[in-house]
Amino acid sequence: MIAVLPGDGIGPEVIAEAVRVLDAVGITDLREAKFGGCAIDATGAPLPDQTLALCKEADAILLGAVGGPNWDKPPRPEAGLLTLRKELGVYANLRPVAAHRRLAHASTLRPEVVEGVDLIIVRELTGGIYFGNKASTADSAFDTCAYTEHEVARLVRIGAALAQRRRKRLCSVDKANVLETSRLWRRVAEKVVDEEFPDVLLTHQLVDSCAMQLIRDPRAFDVIVTENMFGDILSDEAAMIAGSIGMLPSASLGDGARGLYEPIHGSAPDIAGKGIANPLGTILSAAMMLRLSLRMHAEADAIEGAVSAAVERGVLTRDLGGTASCREVGDAVVGGL
Ligand code: IPM
Ligand code: MG
Repeated sequence: MIAVLPGDGIGPEVIAEAVRVLDAVGITDLREAKFGGCAIDATGAPLPDQTLALCKEADAILLGAVGGPNWDKPPRPEAGLLTLRKELGVYANLRPVAAHRRLAHASTLRPEVVEGVDLIIVRELTGGIYFGNKASTADSAFDTCAYTEHEVARLVRIGAALAQRRRKRLCSVDKANVLETSRLWRRVAEKVVDEEFPDVLLTHQLVDSCAMQLIRDPRAFDVIVTENMFGDILSDEAAMIAGSIGMLPSASLGDGARGLYEPIHGSAPDIAGKGIANPLGTILSAAMMLRLSLRMHAEADAIEGAVSAAVERGVLTRDLGGTASCREVGDAVVGGL
């Protein structure tokens, strides 16, 4: 069973298209639940107990997006998302970035810079500054960043194992010239790769320099491993290589097969309800779900192939310079299966 959490803003629109695609490949055991701002409105909490229970029972969770201007004071929808990630123990967030030939024009970077990019950011998702002690008074505030060796090692292992099956290059991103947590990160990355992945080439890069290199020469990257907040920032930046943040899927994994799958974009309240959102990030997240949690490789390949074919034919939403609606893009993918 798959738990489906449409969420807020454009979440329900993009999820509807992903559900149609899943249906077309024979996945029909889906159960929907309220999550995010709509759950706050209905129950007072962004992650109601029933929603969390359903997610824990599920083989995988497909999520749209949460948040919006209606919920800018606690309890916030985003807090529900962080609790869900933590409760599910999905500490590794895989964010692949690929440049489709047909979308080179949609990127703000020159076509020759983005052509052929195929990288993946492995973002730590349940630790770091997102989860450290925090507090605020009227005129001061603090957030703390903390990591343990265990948290870093398990994340680096996932990144190194991925690199092993790809071009064998792992770039660990930190701010070791300033932060203690980054010095720990670097030490642990060295140790794990040295002892367990001798065939992987590990390099280290400071996050500010990485942000620059991602734009200067994105093809130089294979797998990036980094802490929670750096990964959040770098993946939005990297989205422009793919032409639009609406294209990027993600998979969040823990130690078991269960995973949480969501596009990296937000709820985009400015375009919600207009039928113009790009559903491809969510559809590609559903493909990752089939491959990584349900081991349905053929179906995952078929969906990714149908997405590429739709893009190739120029069935594109506005963010990519096209005129197709969210529904029309979903139709094109379903039709291409
Ligand atoms: C993301 C989002 C979230 C995050 C927000 C909505 C809490 O930006 O998934 O990248 O910062 O992790
Ligand atoms: Mg983000």
